[in-house]
Amino acid sequence: MWFTFILLQLLPQLTLSAHCPSGCVCDVKGSAKCIGGITDVPPLDPAMTFLLLLNNTNIKVLKDRSFQSFSLLLRLMITHSALDTIQPEAFHGAPQLLSIKMSSNALTVFPPNVFSEQNNLEQLHLHDNNIVSITSDLFKGLVNLTELDLSKNRISRLNADVFQNLTKLNYLNLAGNQLRSLPNTVFHNLRQLKSLVLSSNHLETLESGSFDHLSNLLLLMLHKNQIREIPPRLFWHLPSLLTLSMSGNQLRYIPAKSFYYLPNLTKLTLFKNPLISLPDQLMGNMLRLQEFNLYGTNLVTVPWNLFANMTNLRLLNLHFNDNLTSLPMELFCCLPNLMKLSLKHNNLRALDPELFSKLASLKILNLNDNKLESLPATIFCNASRLEILDLNHNHLRYLPGDIFVHTRALNVLSLSGNKWKCDCSILGIAEWIRNNPRVINDLDKGVACYEPYHLQNHPLQTLTYEDLQCGRGVFQTMFMTTSIIPTQVPATSTPQSSSATSTKPRTTATSTAPSTSTSSTFATTASLFSPKSDHTYIKQGNDYNDYLVFYNTIVLENGPEIVHNNHYGGWVYLWTVPTTAPYSGFMMALYIVLLVIGVVLIVATMYALYRLHKVMWVLGKVTLGDNQRIKARRVRSFKVKL
Ligand SMILES: *[C@@H]1O[C@H](CO)[C@@H](O)[C@H](O)[C@H]1NC(C)=O
Ligand SMILES: *[C@@H]1O[C@H](CO)[C@@H](O)[C@H](O)[C@H]1NC(C)=O
Ligand SMILES: *[C@@H]1O[C@H](CO)[C@@H](O)[C@H](O)[C@H]1NC(C)=O
Ligand SMILES: *[C@@H]1O[C@H](CO)[C@@H](O)[C@H](O)[C@H]1NC(C)=O
Ligand SMILES: *[C@@H]1O[C@H](CO)[C@@H](O)[C@H](O)[C@H]1NC(C)=O
Ligand SMILES: *[C@@H]1O[C@H](CO)[C@@H](O)[C@H](O)[C@H]1NC(C)=O
Ligand SMILES: *[C@@H]1O[C@H](CO)[C@@H](O)[C@H](O)[C@H]1NC(C)=O
Repeated sequence: MWFTFILLQLLPQLTLSAHCPSGCVCDVKGSAKCIGGITDVPPLDPAMTFLLLLNNTNIKVLKDRSFQSFSLLLRLMITHSALDTIQPEAFHGAPQLLSIKMSSNALTVFPPNVFSEQNNLEQLHLHDNNIVSITSDLFKGLVNLTELDLSKNRISRLNADVFQNLTKLNYLNLAGNQLRSLPNTVFHNLRQLKSLVLSSNHLETLESGSFDHLSNLLLLMLHKNQIREIPPRLFWHLPSLLTLSMSGNQLRYIPAKSFYYLPNLTKLTLFKNPLISLPDQLMGNMLRLQEFNLYGTNLVTVPWNLFANMTNLRLLNLHFNDNLTSLPMELFCCLPNLMKLSLKHNNLRALDPELFSKLASLKILNLNDNKLESLPATIFCNASRLEILDLNHNHLRYLPGDIFVHTRALNVLSLSGNKWKCDCSILGIAEWIRNNPRVINDLDKGVACYEPYHLQNHPLQTLTYEDLQCGRGVFQTMFMTTSIIPTQVPATSTPQSSSATSTKPRTTATSTAPSTSTSSTFATTASLFSPKSDHTYIKQGNDYNDYLVFYNTIVLENGPEIVHNNHYGGWVYLWTVPTTAPYSGFMMALYIVLLVIGVVLIVATMYALYRLHKVMWVLGKVTLGDNQRIKARRVRSFKVKL
């Protein structure tokens, strides 16, 4: 029994190794991997090859009927192999193929009917070749295709009917080609499509109706093209859409209501477009949107209700917009969940006192690298959750002494790189700094006077009345309501009154033309910033692609598997020995249990024989003697013992 068991385990390996040519690695599950100098499909055992991977080979030509003898082959990969010619009948005689991957080769054209027998094919991956054009009938027979990857080729135009028969297509990747335009009906039959990737092409326009039939689409990537304008209602028929990327194009205007009727949208990118203005009605309800980035635009201001429908936003990056000079008072009216707001590296000169008053959840606020000269005293009045605030590298000359009275959670504040004007009015904030030195994280980088000249570089927190030559009386009248000396602050003092008396912002919100002095910094800072942002974006894209892995294993791990074989129209029964860890563990445990049972059985048999022998001996003795009582007693005691 043991022998047959062990033999059963070894048999497949023994027979298999006999058929695996050198340069290839074959395994029991029916996969063969060949690497290196071969120039043609190697002579493998057709009865044991379900998956064939030829990587880094010297195969340049795929000959007619190369796979005819491999009647069980389901998945085929010929990659990194300088393959440049496919003969017209290369795949004929192998209609059972489910996956073909020929990426990273030198393919330029395909014979028209090369895939005509492949009506079972599910995956066709041809990315990273030199494909220039695709004839209309190339994909006609691929009625079962679900994934088509043509990315990183040199395709410059598509025929309107090229994808006509691909009604089961789920995933279409055309990224990294040279497409300038698309026929507006080219995707009309792809009603099952979930992902459409058109990024990194040369698209300049999109025709209206291009995406009208894609009601199952989840992902639409249009970033890194040259799109100058989009027709109205382009995205109105994509109710399932989760991701829409439009960044890195040439959009200057976007039609009104373009992003209406996208209720499930979770990611929308518009950054890095030379946008000049946005329409008053642009965003529909987007309750799932949690993060929004708008940077690298030419916007001077934005409509007040741009974010009004994004009620669940957690993170908003409205930064690195060189020309952004003013923000409408109501802009952040409807973002009760916003945790982080970045307004850094814009061209902001003044902020409305009510701008942040509705941001009840705000924890992080970046206002650094703008041109702010002061802030209204009440601006952080409702920012009781604010923890981190960046005000460095502005033109701040002055801040009201009580501006941080309500920001009880504030624990990191940066103030360096400003142009503090050290006259009497600075004493309020100077006193606050003196009392809260640990909150300010850049005291060492210089929170110091910029003018007057004789006080230049004098640290703010060490200023005294004498330094500033402020009379006590002057001080009292000017700063009645600030919190420099707590006893002097009237108990009823409200922020409004303080701003009314002495802390009026020096400038009001204007849309004056921005000075050009920041344009050079934009170029550097934006380029520092953007790659990181792009990187995270691209990474997510890759995550998506990872999810769409090419099947490079056959799932046979879980014991015997029945593989349907179209070629013979019958069933092939394939036994394999499980190799995954839990199964080998189980097998080993089973083996030990059986072994122990065997040993126990042998010991028990020997013991039983010994007892039997003893009984026989006693019985023999008793029959020799005449004494019936002794015999009876012995028999009884034996029974008891037994
Ligand atoms: C194929 O070879 C390339 C390098 O030439 C390597 O990067 C890639 O991982 C290989 N693929 C497989 C599946 O072995
Ligand atoms: C296509 O796939 C379906 C199920 O996914 C299958 O029943 C059919 O045989 C496949 N082949 C063709 C040619 O339709
Ligand atoms: C593919 O499309 C053509 C028309 O372009 C049609 O005649 C043919 O029947 C289609 N093939 C299948 C299998 O649907
Ligand atoms: C939006 O997402 C929800 C939940 O995932 C889903 O049930 C719903 O069908 C989606 N809506 C549309 C229009 O696809
Ligand atoms: C929010 O979206 C709805 C449609 O989804 C629209 O009617 C409404 O005008 C939008 N609100 C704003 C402020 O844009
Ligand atoms: C502060 O928030 C409260 C409630 O959240 C609101 O009633 C009040 O108007 C806000 N203050 C300002 C100055 O907007
Ligand atoms: C935006 O700023 C750039 C300089 O960075 C300038 O050339 C351009 O004219 C500005 N655009 C608008 C609309 O103000």
